Amino acid sequence: MGRAQAQRAMAPGPGYPLHLRDLVDDYLAALRFAREPATAGLEEAMRYSLLAGGKRIRPVLALATATAVGRDPREVLPLAAALELIHTFSLIHDDLPAIDDDDVRRGRPTSHKRFGEDVAILAGDGLYAEAFKLVLREQRGEPANVLAAIAELADATGVNGMVGGEYIDVRALAGMRGVGLRRLHRLKTGRLIGAAVECVLLLAETPAPARPHFRAFAAELGVLFQIIDDILDVTGTDAELGKPRGSDERHGKLTYVSRYGLRRARRLAAESHGRARTELARAGAGRTDELEQIADFVYTRTA
Ligand code: FPP
Ligand code: MG
Repeated sequence: MGRAQAQRAMAPGPGYPLHLRDLVDDYLAALRFAREPATAGLEEAMRYSLLAGGKRIRPVLALATATAVGRDPREVLPLAAALELIHTFSLIHDDLPAIDDDDVRRGRPTSHKRFGEDVAILAGDGLYAEAFKLVLREQRGEPANVLAAIAELADATGVNGMVGGEYIDVRALAGMRGVGLRRLHRLKTGRLIGAAVECVLLLAETPAPARPHFRAFAAELGVLFQIIDDILDVTGTDAELGKPRGSDERHGKLTYVSRYGLRRARRLAAESHGRARTELARAGAGRTDELEQIADFVYTRTA
């Protein structure tokens, strides 16, 4: 299968807020990082992974949250793009031989396969730093609100978030010493998804009564995303996933499917989707239709 065909198989279809995905893609495509010719190769590696055509769930979630709280989604594009830079950094490092040792991602060779391990490590490092530069330099808003959003982004991706969750994963600590599967995924995947909503709530000074419901929605969406990810690793096709199916089993990972079996994992997903939709309904008056579409997409996705 050619790359264009593979990317079509992975792409979200109707029922996903594609206009928001397009805003994100255009913004990301315009980003440049290297100021010196000597580092052009590093920028090439960063853009290779960044522009490989992911679903853009995290930035689209941020833009849809802006709409839901009555803001123009374009106002939060720098923050939304930063979420995708950080997500891409995490994928590059997660694929490295020292971690999951994967050769294919988003339907093309992983960064270390294409550019070598040394450059792949630096491309991930560069994306992480440039994400924060982007928000600090480009994100408009009350300075105190922007700082609060940046602090949330750092916390959600650091030791008490994504990086800490990845540590629990690589050391196989889940299932031991009281660290459950839910906790592993809440940190590794859930906090970045949660930050996509939370950072926008902070930037937009969302009225207090709606906040706990948006937060509960985001937390539930993180759980749902992971249950479906685990199911797709068993039931999906390589073409749809853009990476080889069955990687969890090959790595001996504890997943919702290995722990509960496919049928119960599907039931847990249905319950989680129902809770996410309930929280959105409770969040109240705003335009939550795009957030509903995202929840439905995460539940029914095949990639
Ligand atoms: C697929 O996202 C990615 C995940 C399910 C997240 C897994 C978590 C990590 C890889 C964290 C690793 C952390 C470090 C620090 C190395 P997706 O389905 O949204 O992928 P897409 O963007 O390609 O669509
Ligand atoms: Mg991994």
